[in-house]
Formats: sequence, structure tokens, C-alpha cells
Amino acid sequence: MRDPIFPVEKFRTLRTPFYYYDCQTLNETLTCIRQEAAKHANFVVHYAVKANAHPRILNLICQSGLGADCVSGGEIRAALQAGFPAEKIVFAGVGKADWEIELGLEAGIFCFNVESVPELEVINQLAADKGKVARVAFRINPDVGAHTHAHITTGLAENKFGISMRDMDYVIDLAQGMEHVQFIGLHFHIGSQILEMDDFIALSNRINELQDKLEARGIQIDHINVGGGLGIDYQKPTEHPIPDFATFFNTYASHLQLRAGQTLHFELGRSVVAQCGSLIAKVLYVKQGTDKQFAILDAGMTDLIRPALYQAYHQTDNITSEGEVRKYDVVGPICESSDVFGKDIPLNEVKRGDLLALRSAGAYGEIMASGYNCRELPKGYLSDEL
Ligand code: LLP
Repeated sequence: MRDPIFPVEKFRTLRTPFYYYDCQTLNETLTCIRQEAAKHANFVVHYAVKANAHPRILNLICQSGLGADCVSGGEIRAALQAGFPAEKIVFAGVGKADWEIELGLEAGIFCFNVESVPELEVINQLAADKGKVARVAFRINPDVGAHTHAHITTGLAENKFGISMRDMDYVIDLAQGMEHVQFIGLHFHIGSQILEMDDFIALSNRINELQDKLEARGIQIDHINVGGGLGIDYQKPTEHPIPDFATFFNTYASHLQLRAGQTLHFELGRSVVAQCGSLIAKVLYVKQGTDKQFAILDAGMTDLIRPALYQAYHQTDNITSEGEVRKYDVVGPICESSDVFGKDIPLNEVKRGDLLALRSAGAYGEIMASGYNCRELPKGYLSDEL
């Protein structure tokens, strides 16, 4: 257990709001992932770039040996620039544009995770135009629910993602008849911020069934990709700065029946970067309402949209006060009623100019910031550069 050491004096010299990333937490997390994954033969971990694409964070993750999971041409470029070798890049996404597919083909990425028949046809055509063969995996919608927020569950039949199990045999046969694609595996992803291992067990069971069916047809696949989804402890970031990767990997190792020579791929985003990051904001005003007090910050939903979009909780600390604890509604300056970070949040007494840290914001924080209200995008600083 380790409280992040916030360099408050340095913070005072920076323009708020900004993201602050603690390198020690990130490095310890990466070490843990490396060590735990290495206990299982044939486990390969990719980092889901969508969680945070700060160039230095990408570079540190790349140096630790992870591959990159990208969902756009922009992410492929960012990953290549950060040093990820093309052969460690996978490219997913339900709507890949032609230029994005061409970029992946030119770079020679490891695999396209294909989500529909028309997409497969386009990849085959674009690869033919370039005289190349694209490695493809099919993203199968396993119709497995996940105990998480409805906006971040993806593996149900009603979701837009993937190819239905019913069509699996058909698309595999189709791909095997195409000259410019090479079918190498199956891809799955059931959702995000999942803390119940039973959900990953349900996915493993479904994959076992599908593999049995394929085997009965004499079809062998080299790669299984189970996506990401491992959740973090938003309630107690100080007590649990590093997610339980050991249990996560062990769950798959003991439930998913890998066939000889098969590789199991993961695409972890949130669990890699969430706990190392905090959004640092300044208190502009403390306003007394009818029966509550508002702490009005210079950061808003444009800087961290998770509370407004998913009713997400981010632990909030006043890092410049040791005053008596009181309750505040912590809100931003944006002209939207949903621009609220939290209600009745206990904080050491707040006054104008105090700095608050919104914790566990390293994933889907800075990367989802917007310029709504003509606001500037927040900057991100790593602890070793302050
Ligand atoms: N693989 C695929 C195919 C995905 O769609 C995602 C996340 C991941 C991997 C990484 O999942 P993770 O390990 O981070 O759970 N903006 C939302 C989360 C959206 C996740 C989208 N897909 C949030 O702030 O909670």
C-alpha cells in the first residue's frame, strides 16, 4: 500500500487542470504483468492504446515488452511512433476505413481483428491491390454478459460488435477461399471494468465449445485473443494500486483449454494505466448552496468525462489541506448539469486555490478529453519530468 506522493509545490507552478502519472506505479504494474504472464507458456499481452496514448506512457509500455492493440489508424501511428514493432500490433474495430486498413497492410501489422463479412472482403481486396496477404482473426460475439456498466459491455448478441457465433463457420470457410487473407485466429472481448472472474470463466467455456466444434471440422487455429476487461479498484486506489493480474491469468489458464501450440492473447487497457494517473484540478470557488456546499473546480467533464458518461466514481482527495473533513458536491465549470464529479464527497476543508486529485484517472481520462466550450485540452506530465 502506497499513497502517491504528489509534488504539490511543483504542481503549483503548472497550469491546471492537468493529468499526473506516477512512474513508479506504472512500472510496478508493468513488472507485475510481465512476471505473472510469464508463468504461463504462450500468453501474450498487448496494451489497448485506447486507454491512454500519451507518447511517453506508450513508450514505457513498449519497453516493457507488451504488444499494442489499436482501434484506428491514428492509434497504429501512435504505437509505431512509440516504438512498438509492427509485428506486435493488432488492429480491431467495427468500422475500419480503407486508409486505416492500407496503413496496417503497409506497416505489416500482426493481425486484423475482423468484425464483418464486408470488412473481410475489403481487406482481401486492398491486400490484393498491394500484393500482400493480411493475417486475420475473426471477432466472434460470444453472447456472454459481463457484470459491468451497460455502456461498456460488448459481448452480448444485441451489441454491435463482432460476428455472430452462427456465422463463424461460414466466415472461416470464406476466408480460407480468399487469396489475400490468412485466417489465424479468433478474437473476443466481453466488456470492461470486470471484477467477477466468473465472467471470464463464462467466456472461456464458450471458447471451449467453439473450439470443439472447429476441431470436429478439422479446423485448427493458432491464436485465441480474449480481449481486455480486467477491472480496477476505483474505491480504494491507495490500498490496491495494482490489479490482481495473477488471479486474472490463472482464471484463463485453468478454464480455457488451449490446444497444443496455441497462443493466448490479451488486450489490457484500464488495468495497465488507470491507477498511475490522477487529474489535478484547482478549486475556483466554494459556494454555499441551499443545503449543500459546492467545490467548483477548473476541471470539468471535458477533462474527465467518465463520471458524466458512466456515473463513474473517482476517489477525490484535497492534496493541499489537512482541515476538518466536510462534504462537498464536486463540480466543474461546464454549462451542463451532468458536469458533476461527485456528490457529498468527504474532503479536508476546501478553500479557493486548493488542489484536488481525482484518482484512478490514468485510463480513459486524458484520451477522452474534448474541447467543448472551446476549452484547452489538459496536458499530461509524468512524475519523472517534474
Ligand atoms: N479490446 C477491445 C476489443 C476493446 O474494445 C477494449 C475496450 C479493450 C480491449 C480494453 O479493455 P480494458 O482492458 O481497458 O477493459 N471508456 C470506457 C471504457 C471503454 C472500453 C472500450 N473497449 C470507460 O471509461 O470506462
